[in-house]
Amino acid sequence: MSASFATDATDALPLWPLWSGDALPDQAGTWPDTAGFGAKLGEICLLPDGDGGLKGALIGLGDKASASRRRFTLAAATSLPNGVWQVRDLPEGIDANEAALALLLGQYRFTRYKGKAYEGPQFLCPEGADSDRVQAAAAGEFMTRDLINTPAGDMGPAQLEAAARDLAEQIGASIRVTSGDDLLAANFPMIHAVGRAAADAPRLLDIRLGEAGPMLTIVGKGVCFDTGGLDLKPASSMALMKKDMGGAATSLGLLKMLALSGAAEGYRLRVLIPAVENSVAGNAFRPGDVLTSRKGLTVEVNNTDAEGRLVLADALALAAEESPDLVISLATLTGAARVALGPDVPPFYCDDDATAQALAKGAEEARDPLWRMPFWQPYETMIEPNIADLDNAPSGGMAGSITAALFLRRFAEGAGRYVHLDIYGWQPSAAPGRPKGGVGQGARAILAALPQMLP
Ligand code: BES
Ligand code: MN
Ligand code: ZN
Repeated sequence: MSASFATDATDALPLWPLWSGDALPDQAGTWPDTAGFGAKLGEICLLPDGDGGLKGALIGLGDKASASRRRFTLAAATSLPNGVWQVRDLPEGIDANEAALALLLGQYRFTRYKGKAYEGPQFLCPEGADSDRVQAAAAGEFMTRDLINTPAGDMGPAQLEAAARDLAEQIGASIRVTSGDDLLAANFPMIHAVGRAAADAPRLLDIRLGEAGPMLTIVGKGVCFDTGGLDLKPASSMALMKKDMGGAATSLGLLKMLALSGAAEGYRLRVLIPAVENSVAGNAFRPGDVLTSRKGLTVEVNNTDAEGRLVLADALALAAEESPDLVISLATLTGAARVALGPDVPPFYCDDDATAQALAKGAEEARDPLWRMPFWQPYETMIEPNIADLDNAPSGGMAGSITAALFLRRFAEGAGRYVHLDIYGWQPSAAPGRPKGGVGQGARAILAALPQMLP
């Protein structure tokens, strides 16, 4: 598996992507017709050289009219025989950067427990694509996927911290970690309350990169496993909860993308990750408990399974204390977001229209779909209970993604602007460039939009 393009063009074989119905390249001769090649999506036609070898290949992209239903179709090229391939003549309607990213994303495999690394075909960077940026995007995405795919037994708060330390070292960032009872002394009571019942101590990871320029703080939900706590999830809902650190994984992947692509230059970046496991033990926090947050707001815990907003609230409060220009939270926060928009289109929330439009445009450009939803002011009453300032789990179950977003916004006050993404972090069935399993959402959209969001 490689997030890089081949650089040696000697012996590279030509690869022609074609929409169905497109004229064949002259070099292909009549063989594709003989073989019945129809350029269906992902269909490959190898071109024999007449000597028992290969002289190239065609790959089908399917029906051009329905192209908008798909992305990264060229990822299917990873089924080609091993060797180095060079894309020729991208057909109309396929952007060079999308094609380039597809060729790298298609090479992702999660092989940690297979004992054998994947080796497949290599590709030269298609002409017209920004090789460095595409490789940075793929490297960040691969990191995100590996972190999510690694089960909680091997990716608890301690291992997530180790991964963050490795990345910080690799990109020259600084990192500070506050763990266990030190969280109480440093005033992160809700991170402590959620994580204290787990074998692995709760912690807050704090990474900084860059000395000058506009400041962006990214806050990622790092719930390494979400049992639901004493409000225990049923087995079917708990099965996938190793992915509940998808926001943290995406934040780290995004930091990697920003650093490796050079896009981080001229910014002050900070990544905050509350890393915890929401577990069950005699010292677990309980339904009905009232927590006093870092910010001073009291929170009635009406469901220990609404833990993400609790740990994020303390991290957001810390973020807001230094008034960065922009705060972005990334979190696998609610089942309601998936009910509303499905697994592929995470909702995002932002009060500033210009920022929201920039992000929506970045999402489209980067083929990293997002959809804006409202911080709907009138629903504020839903998160206001009887005996505390806030309720972490409003009864009624209406507008679950919005009420969670409103809860977080209370703690982000003080930041110049605030954007929240309620991501899913998981690809339920394989699609081009996205095997079943962990997937980053929103990072490439933010990477693309950053110059507009923070000029
Ligand atoms: N991690 C879950 C949200 C989740 C579940 C995301 C499934 C993606 C897929 C979160 O901590 C949670 O359990 N949220 C509850 C909140 C409720 C108790 C108010 C939910 O969405 O059901
Ligand atoms: Mn939960
Ligand atoms: Zn959760």
